[in-house]
Amino acid sequence: MKPFKLTTMITLAMFISVASAKLFTIQFDLQRNKENHPIWDLTNTSNGHALMLEPGKTLTHNFCLRTDSYVTVKDFRFSNGNRSEQVMLEIDRVLMGAFRTPTNPQHSWNLFLSTGRFPRVPLISIGWHRLVVKFNGTADGIALDYIELDIDDDKMSQDIFSCELTCIPDRNYNVRSNPVVTEASYIVQESYKTACPEVDNINVPIFNPSVQMYEITAALPQYRAFYNWKNENTTGCPHLSPLYWSFNNIDLTSSANYAIDTPSAKIYFSRGNDRHSKVHTSMVIAFKLEGKSKGMIDSEMGAILKIKFRHLTNDVKLSFRYKGRHNGLSRTVINHATPTHPETEWNIPDFSWTDKDYNLVFLYVVSNSSKPLHMEHLFLERRPMLPDQVKSVYRSDDSIIEVVFSDFWWLNPDSMTVHLSTGDIYHNVSYFRIYRPIPWDQGYAQVFVLYQDGNARLLPVPPVGLKGWIPFGSSVIIGQTDPTVVRPYASITDTYIDVDKQVMSLMYKDGGSCRLSLLSSLTETRVVVSDLYLARNPALFPFTTFRSMYVAEGNTDVDHVKVDGIHNLHIMDDFNAVIGRNFVFHRKCMSRHLNLSPDIYIDIRRTLNDNAHVELIDTDAFQSLLMRIRNHRFRLWTPRLRYNYG
Ligand SMILES: *[C@@H]1O[C@H](CO)[C@@H](O)[C@H](O)[C@H]1NC(C)=O
Ligand SMILES: *[C@@H]1O[C@H](CO)[C@@H](O)[C@H](O)[C@H]1NC(C)=O
Ligand SMILES: *[C@@H]1O[C@H](CO)[C@@H](O)[C@H](O)[C@H]1NC(C)=O
Ligand SMILES: *[C@@H]1O[C@H](CO)[C@@H](O)[C@H](O)[C@H]1NC(C)=O
Ligand SMILES: *[C@@H]1O[C@H](CO)[C@@H](O)[C@H](O)[C@H]1NC(C)=O
Ligand SMILES: *[C@@H]1O[C@H](CO)[C@@H](O)[C@H](O)[C@H]1NC(C)=O
Repeated sequence: MKPFKLTTMITLAMFISVASAKLFTIQFDLQRNKENHPIWDLTNTSNGHALMLEPGKTLTHNFCLRTDSYVTVKDFRFSNGNRSEQVMLEIDRVLMGAFRTPTNPQHSWNLFLSTGRFPRVPLISIGWHRLVVKFNGTADGIALDYIELDIDDDKMSQDIFSCELTCIPDRNYNVRSNPVVTEASYIVQESYKTACPEVDNINVPIFNPSVQMYEITAALPQYRAFYNWKNENTTGCPHLSPLYWSFNNIDLTSSANYAIDTPSAKIYFSRGNDRHSKVHTSMVIAFKLEGKSKGMIDSEMGAILKIKFRHLTNDVKLSFRYKGRHNGLSRTVINHATPTHPETEWNIPDFSWTDKDYNLVFLYVVSNSSKPLHMEHLFLERRPMLPDQVKSVYRSDDSIIEVVFSDFWWLNPDSMTVHLSTGDIYHNVSYFRIYRPIPWDQGYAQVFVLYQDGNARLLPVPPVGLKGWIPFGSSVIIGQTDPTVVRPYASITDTYIDVDKQVMSLMYKDGGSCRLSLLSSLTETRVVVSDLYLARNPALFPFTTFRSMYVAEGNTDVDHVKVDGIHNLHIMDDFNAVIGRNFVFHRKCMSRHLNLSPDIYIDIRRTLNDNAHVELIDTDAFQSLLMRIRNHRFRLWTPRLRYNYG
């Protein structure tokens, strides 16, 4: 067979980066095109079927782009019946290329040909596009196997290509105009990659040593999509599992001393010396747990040790002790496993384990069994978290306030006392939440939540007609944090709430304080933070921190930050530090994770020297902090647990 020639109408020389391009295959027989064109079984296709494009017909396929991208037709695989014809491929009525199919002396539809790469590589804009295949003339048509497109965008996903999730062009975000020019602030990139959508891997601290007042605003994302996906997604989150370690199917009658080494724990077995019993085996299990310094609760929370035997013929006496954070061993607790109850467990209280060293579990097993003693399993897991205790502490025509006591609070013994202007005082509060009445239905909607660790969550009220609630998604830590720790926090000791004015005064453990005023409108919920007293060096400890999640496009709570309404940075870009006065953390692309969760605007409204046009806090100390954060960031390329907030 003669090789055929690919002719282009116009050939443009383009320099495109092939390294970051992503390949998308349009398999026409699997798409909606199959409803409008015949599908034939042809064994030489990639999947057994081809779409018949009949004479006089046109084939149109829709696709979407995440951003303006160079698009290459990498391959066009087809067969033609008997007669040669002129085939043209267009995107949005712009010709990508045209070629003449060769004549086919075998008269077979099962001889497929590939065009290879088309030379034209146009820049195609973000959004919705049409790819069209047509002929010139009335020969016998062609059979289409697939078309491959190379898209010069390493963040493109199949969901976006198929337009199931769409992306919007750059928008203006309505940041309120500010009569003054504030001293410049810095955001610093401290985010890391994760595979777990329930981790707050996006960390963007904001610095400004002379900040006096700033606003945090939550508004619905700007894309048009009315899905209200609210489910959490724990795929890719091994750290969320309560299981610390387990050993299964072990014969304890084996006489030798031996050890089993797993990544999570090591177990050592040795024969004891109880002369009255046939089986006497000691087990020691050594394991490490992560704690507060890694943003984890494993070394803090209590645990349950469970053991089960199989085919027991005699009673087994089990003596348990452990060594954790306290000096010396715990007292011994003796349990029995019996032929009718071959399973037993021990509870280890909160604050027993350590994250500084190995933890040890000791088990001494004694039995008169003459048969082999078979241990079905032995495992240690985090104790279950009991539901939050919620107390409704204030209710009026204009708001509801609830305080919440968690079964386990990760910063314990740090805790928050909530003082209401009614005179009521509540100690040991993990977080509180404020509801606003919704005039167009009979309910109330949560608009603001503040946790003891400084994490604040804001929500616009649900729009008319939306059933139920909108999920939170991103959050903002109000208060100074140490930007070099895995899970930053600003420990609040006291909150004073003026229930009529919806004004809150916060006192921090570090001595700092601030005042919050809550405002909600039809479209947004805003907190104005004023009267800031920053107790720690503000050049090194940011006054606020944006936190959120990004796994991949379409699996995010945020994907971009727009700085001063001008620069739109991708949230995973390695931007190090960026100067600005307002920052809009938003989504350009729809997400399957909490699709309606809000965009967050952080706007610095007043500084000590407004209109002084001070641009840089370019001190040596700040530069060395950036270096420290950078080093820290590169160490953190692993998933971490986000403690499961309400
Ligand atoms: C191709 O030509 C052969 C021989 O003339 C004929 O039998 C066959 O039907 C033609 N096939 C098509 C698809 O036109
Ligand atoms: C599949 O294609 C090859 C040429 O690429 C051809 O030799 C073969 O006959 C085709 N198979 C069928 C069943 O037509
Ligand atoms: C289409 O066919 C006509 C007549 O056969 C020819 O003049 C014209 O150049 C063809 N157009 C293309 C795009 O091939
Ligand atoms: C859940 O997250 C994983 C990645 O961590 C992703 O592959 C999967 O598509 C997500 N599921 C949904 C329903 O979004
Ligand atoms: C085993 O048998 C001896 C002698 O009858 C008894 O003293 C001992 O308590 C038994 N041990 C267990 C674990 O039942
Ligand atoms: C405070 O709450 C924690 C749980 O978050 C609990 O462990 C602790 O005992 C409580 N402290 C007081 C004084 O009630």
